[in-house]
Amino acid sequence: MYPLHRNRRLRSSEAIRRLVRETVVTPNDFLVPLFVVEGSGVREEIPSMPNYYRLSLDNLEKEVQELWKLGLCAVLLFVKVPDSLKDNKGTEALNANGLMQRAIKTVKQACPEMVVMTDVALDPYSSLGHDGIVRDGKILNDETNEILAEMSVSHAEAGADFVAPSDMMDGRILSIREALEDEDFQDVGIMSYSAKYASSFYGPFRDALDSAPVAMKHVPKDKKTYQMDPANRFEAIKETMNDIDEGADIVMVKPGLAYLDIVREIRNEVDVPVAVYQVSGEYAMLKAAAEKGWLDHDAVMMEQLTAIKRAGANMIASYFAKDVIRVLNS
Ligand code: PBG
Repeated sequence: MYPLHRNRRLRSSEAIRRLVRETVVTPNDFLVPLFVVEGSGVREEIPSMPNYYRLSLDNLEKEVQELWKLGLCAVLLFVKVPDSLKDNKGTEALNANGLMQRAIKTVKQACPEMVVMTDVALDPYSSLGHDGIVRDGKILNDETNEILAEMSVSHAEAGADFVAPSDMMDGRILSIREALEDEDFQDVGIMSYSAKYASSFYGPFRDALDSAPVAMKHVPKDKKTYQMDPANRFEAIKETMNDIDEGADIVMVKPGLAYLDIVREIRNEVDVPVAVYQVSGEYAMLKAAAEKGWLDHDAVMMEQLTAIKRAGANMIASYFAKDVIRVLNS
């Protein structure tokens, strides 16, 4: 009788392993984050994100055409705004001819079928580096929501398919949904950063956009009064349920790897697609270790992305998307 179970039978060859494999990463899984800057011919590497670049609009056009050819079908746009255009209210965010609005048009013209998602939050536009308006040391909630709603309409006017609010103000999904309906943008969707943690993994992203909170009296030095405490789990479910009730089409957990318990729990709980953001710090860690020869870049990358998908992600925002295509095609 012994042993009853020889589990190794199903691992005995690559062919049998392929047959019983439960999770497979494909090009369809990815949202590709892109950083856009003013200028022309610009393709500047982000120091803390090796092999990742800020692109001017002409290079953005080329990049999205390349991504589409590689089989990637969605981009998530972020802009780096010149300091001279920043203020506490993020006024520049509403400029119909602003960098984001031009970036959306550029992508839609270069590649009409590409799904265009846009970052909605004040921080790239904020002189104080916060996702909302700062007053007396506090981040104002409802006043910020009004701007986020206008910003979303402005992105919809420029041609965005989805707006992606990454700010964590309460009630912003409802404000945005109502504003989009009022302006006849029924078909523009919302991907909500619903369970976004106050994580220390965002450092390289803040370098990329120069968007970190500024060190000043009466300006909170971190985002802990709006982003979630990494210690909490129930709260992630509550945040996500609220956002779905308010009209989110897609919800998100962010960061990825350190929060896979949350991803699984939310995947079990909700009936909308769940996105996971594998953030800049996760990217930087692997690039650094691989550069030192301490980890096998491609193998660890695929293992991490497979783990994120296995945990329940239906799509993954990842700076590794092009590296993955290279591996899949090799
Ligand atoms: C801000 C925003 C952040 C990221 C996406 N949108 C950083 C932050 O909250 O400070 C981080 C993404 C990453 O680290 O890759 N609205």
